[in-house]
Amino acid sequence: MGIVEKNDLTANSLKHIAIIMDGNGRWANKRALSRLKGHEQGANAVREAIKGCRELGIPFLTLFAFSSENWKRPKDEVNHLMGLFRYFFNKELKDLSEAGVKVNFIGNIKKLPEDVQDLVQIAKDKTAGNTDLVLTIALSYGGKEEITSAARKIAKLILDGELAPDEIDETFFASHLETDGLPDPDIILRTSGEQRISNFLLWQSAYSELIFQEVLWPDFDRSWLEKAVDEFHSRCRRYGAISV
Ligand code: FPP
Repeated sequence: MGIVEKNDLTANSLKHIAIIMDGNGRWANKRALSRLKGHEQGANAVREAIKGCRELGIPFLTLFAFSSENWKRPKDEVNHLMGLFRYFFNKELKDLSEAGVKVNFIGNIKKLPEDVQDLVQIAKDKTAGNTDLVLTIALSYGGKEEITSAARKIAKLILDGELAPDEIDETFFASHLETDGLPDPDIILRTSGEQRISNFLLWQSAYSELIFQEVLWPDFDRSWLEKAVDEFHSRCRRYGAISV
């Protein structure tokens, strides 16, 4: 086991925060509103999170917007969420682009309605040159599916005689994940008091700090983001080594 230098432990540089935005339905239930209203309010909290990361100088933000399992929800809820994505990408794209945000997507995008797939492509193309904040939106995303797909791509390389099994190491494997090029998340934050990972960034979260907050996602704002950042800085990251 290695020893991590004290400087590494105290530096705790925060580059990437990934958020499981949970609690839209409960937020709506508490107000006797339909779950759909909760998702609409959740979209406002998305704006808060993006703005907060820009202002705090956190260069990577990843949002779990729709999981590979969310397709099992009632049809009207799925349709409403797709409508929200449409609205958001149409309405916010100009502002995001002008704010220097690079919009990126992970997940099985081909399962989305075609017009949403088109908007995804437009958002990627239009913001490709931006560098201030990399916003990754996980849509129809599942960590197990992502890892399985990477294994499949690598297996094909071996079958085609282009790769020997011994050449596969962690870096090589990670380069076949959809998050290739992104740093692993320093924080995985989940709102609503639930304490689960729910198939989000399974590989990438190996050494993430897990932070669970009671706030329901539609009520998330800059103050909750700051609390998460403070909590992160109070943690001691050892990556399996010991502090000196
Ligand atoms: C989980 O809350 C939330 C979702 C499945 C959807 C997240 C989507 C948004 C925040 C909408 C806007 C997103 C973008 C990127 C524009 P839940 O419905 O599971 O809440 P519950 O556990 O209280 O029922």
